[in-house]
This record gives sequence, structure tokens and C-alpha cells, in this order.
Amino acid sequence: MNCASVVIASDHGGFGLKKTLVGRLAARRIEVLDLGPDCAETCDYPVFAKRAVRKVLELEARGCLGVLICGTGLGMSMTANRFPGIRAAVCVNEYMARMARAHNNANLLCLGERVVGPGLAVAILDVFLSTAFEGGRHQARINLIEAD
Ligand code: RB5
Repeated sequence: MNCASVVIASDHGGFGLKKTLVGRLAARRIEVLDLGPDCAETCDYPVFAKRAVRKVLELEARGCLGVLICGTGLGMSMTANRFPGIRAAVCVNEYMARMARAHNNANLLCLGERVVGPGLAVAILDVFLSTAFEGGRHQARINLIEAD
């Protein structure tokens, strides 16, 4: 694994998958910071996305990555990508997860519980956490994302 800890959060649409992934991370002895919610009651994804983003930005230098889950992954990624320094990637397969890390140095994985089943989500998460950023020309391109 290329990360020391994982920040995770969801809305009600991603609550079930969050529980599955927290279990997976714990089984792999990866430190997990679960920022909620604590139940599947209806809630607003931007609230939890912002909470997780702030924690990832705080802990990123210590090797922390983030995972955000809603129904589609879209609302979470739209919210997260408003923050400078956040590169949130919605991934629906393992190839996207690998490229999101290797080429885009994504620091947040967004998943849709209504899009990917739990088995695929676990596989996507494992690839995301175990793939290193390649740097080089990809770093130069990432620098351009936030350049004026
Ligand atoms: C909630 O119904 C749903 O809109 C939310 O989980 C997410 O998919 C938004 O992008």
C-alpha cells in the first residue's frame, strides 16, 4: 500500500458501501478515519465531502488518501474538486483507479454505490491505494491544472 491512512465519508446513498470499505481497510490494517455519516438517514453529500477534503488536505503530507462515496460518486467529486490541491477521481473500474493514481496523482477516490457493486468497489479501492504516482511529465501536466 502506498498510503499511511485513509479518510472516508459518504452520504446516505453511499453509506452501505462505506461500511464495506471500512471493513476492508481495517482487515488490511490501514488506519481509517471515518468522517460519517453514522447512519443511512438522508443527508447532504457536500457536507461530508467538505469535511473529508479538509482532513485529506491536512494529512496528505503524511501519506493520507481519501475516499468519498455517494449514489453515483458525481456529487462528491464535484464538491471535492472545488478545493485547490484536491484531485478527486470518479472510478468505475480498476483501470481508471490505476490511471487516476499513476498519471493524475489523484488524492481522492470517488465511488458510486448505485454504480459499482461491493466486490468491484473493493478491487477499485485496492488498486487505488497500491498504485504510485509516476511523476515526470505527469507532474508537469498536473501543475497546469491549477495554473492561470
Ligand atoms: C442521493 O440520492 C444522490 O443524489 C447522491 O448520493 C449522489 O449520487 C449525488 O451525486
